[in-house]
Amino acid sequence: MTSNCRTIAERLTAPGKGILAADESIGTMSSRLEQAGVEPTAENRRVYRELLATAPNLSDSVSGIIFCDETLGQTFSDGTPFPQAVLELGILPGIKVDTGAKPCPGLPGEKITEGLDGLPARLAKYADMGAAFAKWRAVFEITESTPTRGAIRANANALGRYAAACQEAGLVPIVEPEVLMDGRHNRGRCRDVTAEVHAAVRTELELLNVDLAGIVLKPNMVLEGQDYPDRPSTPEEIAEATVSVLRAWPEELAGVAFLSGGQSPERATANLEAMQKHETPWPLTFSFGRALVSPALTAWHGDPQCYADGQAALVSRVVANAAVARLRVAS
Ligand code: G3H
Repeated sequence: MTSNCRTIAERLTAPGKGILAADESIGTMSSRLEQAGVEPTAENRRVYRELLATAPNLSDSVSGIIFCDETLGQTFSDGTPFPQAVLELGILPGIKVDTGAKPCPGLPGEKITEGLDGLPARLAKYADMGAAFAKWRAVFEITESTPTRGAIRANANALGRYAAACQEAGLVPIVEPEVLMDGRHNRGRCRDVTAEVHAAVRTELELLNVDLAGIVLKPNMVLEGQDYPDRPSTPEEIAEATVSVLRAWPEELAGVAFLSGGQSPERATANLEAMQKHETPWPLTFSFGRALVSPALTAWHGDPQCYADGQAALVSRVVANAAVARLRVAS
């Protein structure tokens, strides 16, 4: 199982390739469709995901696509199930397996990501359906009093248990601890919180015997909160702070694929480019959601006549990010 995970993790973070996060829950996807003027039906969610997956030459820049449970069970318009259809396009299918961040009992205002109950059975089912990897996202909000040690420990433990279960099922776990951009904090506070969260996650992964060469880490970039009143950090400052936190990860980690977290598509790409100037033992690439798909959804907006425009908007972002991911300096 583990050697298979190592091979898949290496493929997911192959030079010049990244991961497309198209795994919005039914609720989130529906509200994004509505904002774009598209009726939020299961069929429109299916059409939109097929538009993304079939964008011309996507596999040149994208190694894997993360779907949600609904999409994994849907088919392309020719009747081929999504997992098989994307595999035939040369792309690995992945599945979001957490069931969302819910209020954490005992910790008012903080969240715990759920989905561990019955997880091994669900992972076996997803593997049978053709999934090659999985994703679990924990969220941490920075305020004056959060995240607390309790929330960090609880979420890190859930990430560790999820990762161990994935590797036992032969699926590569994408481990996503996200320190949110919400708030007025500065870059230094984001750096300290991200470092503390990563340390807790590393401890749990180690205690649960997770093979780091068979996981992909999906962290936030280290930057100020979106309501920070002073000047925004430059890409160089963000890269320096982010890589300094990541250096605590051992060399055997398969790779790092960043989330975009609500940054503009252009800013996320510029920051990823600045990261590549640092020598690192693991590849640094993208696993963006909004920074890749928002322009595509706007361009398509449910109009069949704009289908190709939606695909072109996606391709333009993935090509820009893949070009940047190719600039890596290995140490
Ligand atoms: O869980 C969140 C997605 O995988 C990444 O989305 O790039 O829009 O933050 P984002």
